[in-house]
Amino acid sequence: MLTLLRFARFYAEIKANGSCRSLKPRLIQRLYRTLRALPVREDHSSSTAFILTLESWLAHGEFDKVLAASADETDLRIQDVKFRAQHYRTHGIPDISAMGFELRGKTCSIPFSKLDVLPSGTCHLCCAVWQRQPVGNIFRQSINDVWNSSEAREIREGVNDGTFRYCGKQLCALIAARTLPVHEQTQVLSVGPKHFNLSYDRSCNLSCPSCRSEKIMEAGAKRLFLEKMTNDKILPLLKTGESVHITGSGDPFASYAFRHLLQSLNSKDYPALRIRLMTNGLLLTEAEWEKFSHLHGMIAAVNVSVDAVKPETYAIVRRGGDLNTLIPNLEFIGRLRTARAIDRYLLAFVVQTANFREMPDFIQLARRVGADQVHFQRLVDWNSMNPDDFHSASIQTREHPEHAEFMDTIRRPEFSDPFVVHEFAELLEGD
Ligand SMILES: C[S@@+](CC[C@H](N)C(=O)[O-])C[C@H]1O[C@@H](n2cnc3c(N)ncnc32)[C@H](O)[C@@H]1O
Ligand code: SF4
Repeated sequence: MLTLLRFARFYAEIKANGSCRSLKPRLIQRLYRTLRALPVREDHSSSTAFILTLESWLAHGEFDKVLAASADETDLRIQDVKFRAQHYRTHGIPDISAMGFELRGKTCSIPFSKLDVLPSGTCHLCCAVWQRQPVGNIFRQSINDVWNSSEAREIREGVNDGTFRYCGKQLCALIAARTLPVHEQTQVLSVGPKHFNLSYDRSCNLSCPSCRSEKIMEAGAKRLFLEKMTNDKILPLLKTGESVHITGSGDPFASYAFRHLLQSLNSKDYPALRIRLMTNGLLLTEAEWEKFSHLHGMIAAVNVSVDAVKPETYAIVRRGGDLNTLIPNLEFIGRLRTARAIDRYLLAFVVQTANFREMPDFIQLARRVGADQVHFQRLVDWNSMNPDDFHSASIQTREHPEHAEFMDTIRRPEFSDPFVVHEFAELLEGD
């Protein structure tokens, strides 16, 4: 009876925590102390019950079971318990008082210098996929109210105290790759953001199934609203900016708002600003590049998402696109890179069941077109696919029937070359 009561109390606390942040260290420590003295209670009836199960496995030293568990990885409590399982397996079990502070002494400059602007003006201090807590709305509040909001301060406090409680510890590449620097910083900032990730317009010429279920092209009043916000809110902000990433939401060359933004930027009014373009590349022809000649010299990087080497795979994973249209554009961007018209040229690939066998050839393609690097990304659940389709596409999960073949692929020697960056280091740990 007492055991059931304890489980019920923990259940309520885990549920009340919400999924946008990891559990507080004090709760993590109490869970560990209590659950290791109780028999494991396996319960899959809800996400909260399953988190309690994962904490219970962790307390009993069943780290592999925690890591192999199939669970909603957008939930930061789940990312955190998996991160601790990985950490304890590699470094041993720490003092209970240190649990929840595994990243103490590390820092990250991103929430202190960067603003991500999403559709409707909602802002985050890092990528919203793994830092899900919004800090305000730039279309409704002043920049300082957003930049130093109570949510922003709490996120920064989480970096300073080593809990990184608002950071997705599995999905953030810096945490996953263990490359966070050591440093101390404060929460309230008198200097505004210098780095921007503009993701407030989802308009795109494609409808990749990983990203969306149907094509999105903002029109009418919404299009006018986004253009007005670009003029009133975004362009003034960028005057003191050092870098702007366009875009994580749609396509810079398909969106009217982003095209308008690109037309409006120039090196005289935005002297320090460097532009990083992320695009599907289909519209980035030589003629298009010339339309933006006023930006030449300001483009720090062009990142093209390709995801396939065979036209028939491309047509599936990049729905609405044709690889034969893209290849000349990739070659053209390669020539821009050779001529030093851009500083960096990256090709990206979201790894899925449909395309993982093409990863080695993709590395060859990237070398042939003159890219600096390829980036193999993890498929994340963006709610664009139905759950069954997402599970069958998630080749990175250990229980996937073709996972072993995927692992053999990423163990090939070319995947250790610095030319290749991938987000699967954690799967290779212990190899
Ligand atoms: C949403 S796109 C926007 C920029 C541009 N349209 C493009 O495709 O590169 C930004 C990046 O997210 C990637 N992406 C799309 N769906 C994803 C998913 N479910 N998980 C992880 N990354 C995804 C894209 O491949 C691309 O590299
Ligand atoms: S091209 Fe980019 S924004 Fe467009 S649907 Fe595909 S991933 Fe999404």
